[in-house]
Amino acid sequence: MSVTVRSYLGVGDDSSLGDDVLDGLTRPFKELPPKHLYDRAGAELFDRICELPEYYPTRAERAILAERSGDIAALTGAAEVVELGSGTAAKSRLLLSALAQAGTLRRYLPVDVTEGMIRDTGDALAAEYPGLDVHGIVGDFERHLGHLPAPTGPRIVAMLGGTIGNFTPGARRRFLRGVGRLLGPDGALLLGVDLVKDPARIEAAYDDGAGVTAAFNRNILRVVNRELEADFEPERFDHVAFFDREHEWIEMRLRAQQRMTVHVAGLGLTVGFAKREELRTEISAKFTPRRLVADLAAARLEPIELFTDSDALFGLTLARPVAAPRFRATRNRGFAVAA
Ligand SMILES: C[S@@+](CC[C@H](N)C(=O)[O-])C[C@H]1O[C@@H](n2cnc3c(N)ncnc32)[C@H](O)[C@@H]1O
Repeated sequence: MSVTVRSYLGVGDDSSLGDDVLDGLTRPFKELPPKHLYDRAGAELFDRICELPEYYPTRAERAILAERSGDIAALTGAAEVVELGSGTAAKSRLLLSALAQAGTLRRYLPVDVTEGMIRDTGDALAAEYPGLDVHGIVGDFERHLGHLPAPTGPRIVAMLGGTIGNFTPGARRRFLRGVGRLLGPDGALLLGVDLVKDPARIEAAYDDGAGVTAAFNRNILRVVNRELEADFEPERFDHVAFFDREHEWIEMRLRAQQRMTVHVAGLGLTVGFAKREELRTEISAKFTPRRLVADLAAARLEPIELFTDSDALFGLTLARPVAAPRFRATRNRGFAVAA
């Protein structure tokens, strides 16, 4: 058993917050990427969101994993699990337990921007699963996946919690193509996606009565204040969440209650907000089975199984690389596809 944690978010390779703030707050339509919502406080708020009555995705995905992890273990025979955006790995334990019970589990490789979470989770899992090696990557899954070690056996790459929905469609397909290259020939992708449903149900999940999601959303301004010496007043921004029916995604925004000027001292930047001007902090795309299969195909992946919960709220797909066409050389005539 061993626990190794490597951080790629050190000095000179930070989480790109400065660049993202500079790019995102100087555009006509202001925007910050959702990864900056998750410092330690943000990660704790997200865990509270997962337990809210309105937030069905966690419960639904947990129910699928509780029922299907044994099948996933049998289908993959996985020796290792790479988890992208692992958080507290609360649900992944169901998968790890099934693999441990099947006797194949050797290694867990969590990847997340939140360092404390990787370290705490790594230590906890190593204690819970005797003989498990943990290789944690503190990094950005859009930039640091090249630091993952090569597979040591059949590998599952898991991205749970609907995190894939945070990408816009083109970026999502590019990302999935990159993930496909991490699988190896006998690996599989395990991807959790929130499904399209009644917009009122989706909107309630992102705008809970207790105001936890609002606090989570405003936390991004606290992160910018702390890391870049900015003077945002988070309470002067309203939390906005709505379902965009055309794109079939949720948007989370922060709306300035009045006209204001914000200074980001660390960047020497001054930003003006008009009254009711909005800053987008997250999109969360919702999927139909057809959209999911098309995305997978564009990344040269094919579904082995698509599991859903009993209310069809959430989907969990297991996918594998599409077998590459095998080519044989033919004399002087280039290549022909083998039968
Ligand atoms: C929606 S939460 C899901 C957490 C957990 N997988 C679950 O299912 O409950 C997204 C997670 O991805 C992480 N994350 C978001 N963007 C990331 C990025 N670009 N690179 C690495 N981790 C990221 C966050 O820190 C957070 O833990």
